[in-house]
Amino acid sequence: MSEKLLEVNDLTTSFKIKGEYYPAVDHVSFSIKPNEVLALVGESGSGKSATAFSLMGLHTKARIEGEVRFQERELTELSTGKMNKIRGGDMSMIFQDPMTALNPLMKVKLQIMETLKLHGTKSKNERESYAVELLDKVGIPRPERVAEAFPHELSGGMRQRVVIAIAIANRPKLLIADEPTTALDVTIQAQILDLIRDLQDDLGSGVLLITHDLGVVAEMADRVAVMYAGQIVEVAPVRELFKNPRHPYTRSLLNSLPSEDMLGSKLHVIEGVVPPLNKMDRDGCRFAPRIPWVPASEHEDNPELREIAGDHFVRCTCYRNFHLNNEETAAESLETGTGGRA
Ligand SMILES: Nc1ncnc2c1ncn2[C@@H]1O[C@H](COP(=O)(O)OP(=O)(O)OP(=O)(O)O)[C@@H](O)[C@H]1O
Ligand SMILES: [Mg+2]
Repeated sequence: MSEKLLEVNDLTTSFKIKGEYYPAVDHVSFSIKPNEVLALVGESGSGKSATAFSLMGLHTKARIEGEVRFQERELTELSTGKMNKIRGGDMSMIFQDPMTALNPLMKVKLQIMETLKLHGTKSKNERESYAVELLDKVGIPRPERVAEAFPHELSGGMRQRVVIAIAIANRPKLLIADEPTTALDVTIQAQILDLIRDLQDDLGSGVLLITHDLGVVAEMADRVAVMYAGQIVEVAPVRELFKNPRHPYTRSLLNSLPSEDMLGSKLHVIEGVVPPLNKMDRDGCRFAPRIPWVPASEHEDNPELREIAGDHFVRCTCYRNFHLNNEETAAESLETGTGGRA
C-alpha cells in the first residue's frame, strides 16, 4: 500500500457569487497516511465542509482546481461513473447534515441496502440482515424497527447514526467524517469513535475528522490541520499542537490566548467571524484584521505554510509576536477537562 492514502495538492474550490468565482478552499495541501487520523478544525465558515465535499467530488456548481490523489488515482479527472464506484465504497463520508445525505422518501433499510448493492453485496437477504446489523453497530436500539422507518420519523441523533451506518457500510479505506458526533450524547459518541477505531484496526483506514470538539481531536487525531478563511494556517502532530500552538488563530481556538505583545500591552484576538467569500481581503495575512494590534510589518505579504519545527507548519511570521505565557497550556486544560469546543 502506498505510504500516502490521500494526497491533496493546491486544492482550490471556488463558488460563484454575483457572476464571479471566489475560493472557499484556497490552495489547500495535506496528506493522510493509512491508519492516520487527520483532524481539520476551524471556525464556522472556514472551509472545512467545502474541502470535504471537494475530496468526494460532490460539488455540482463549484470550480475545482488542484489535485486530489486517492490510492494513486487522480480523482478530479475521473468520470462520474468511476467516481461513483469510489464514493461510498473505498472512500466515504459522514455528512454534517444528515437530512441532506438521506433520501426522505426511502426507508432507512433500503438506503443502507442500496449502498451495499452499489458496492457489490449481491444477495438481497444478506444486504437486509447486514443493514440491521449496521444499525445495531451504530447504537440504534431496536434496529429492526428503525430499519422500517423513514428519516423524518427519527430524531436528529438517530438520523446521524443512520448516516454513519451508511458511511461505514462498505468498510472504507478513507473515511471523511464531518462533525460525526455533534448531535450525539457522550455514550453514543464513544461508541461511534470506537467504530472508527475498529475500521482502522481492521483495514488500516485513514480518517479526515472534521470537528469543533477539541476533546474528540485530542482523543482521536494523530495530526491536526487548522483552517481559517479557506487556508490551512497551522499543521502539527496533535500533542505538539496542543502543547505549543503558534498561530494566533490556533491559540484563540485552543483558548490559550497570548496575553502580551512586544509593546507590553494586552493582546487578544478580537471576536468576529470568518468573512464572507466575496468580502474577504485575500492579500497578506487573512487573520490580520482580527489582531489589529500587530503592526503590518510583522505579517508577511504572501504568507506561506513554513516548517518551524519537525512536522510543525505555520503560516505567516505574525506568530512570532506571541509568547505562550499562560500557566495552563491547552494540552493541560484538555487533560484536566477544562478544554472545550473550538
Ligand atoms: N455551495 C456553496 N455556494 C456558495 N458558497 C458556499 C457554498 N458552500 C459553502 N459556501 C461558502 O464557503 C465558505 C466555507 O463554508 P463551509 O461550509 O466549508 O464551512 P465550514 O468550515 O464547514 O463551517 P461549519 O463549521 O459551520 O460547518 C462559507 O463562506 C460558505 O458560505
Ligand atoms: Mg461544515
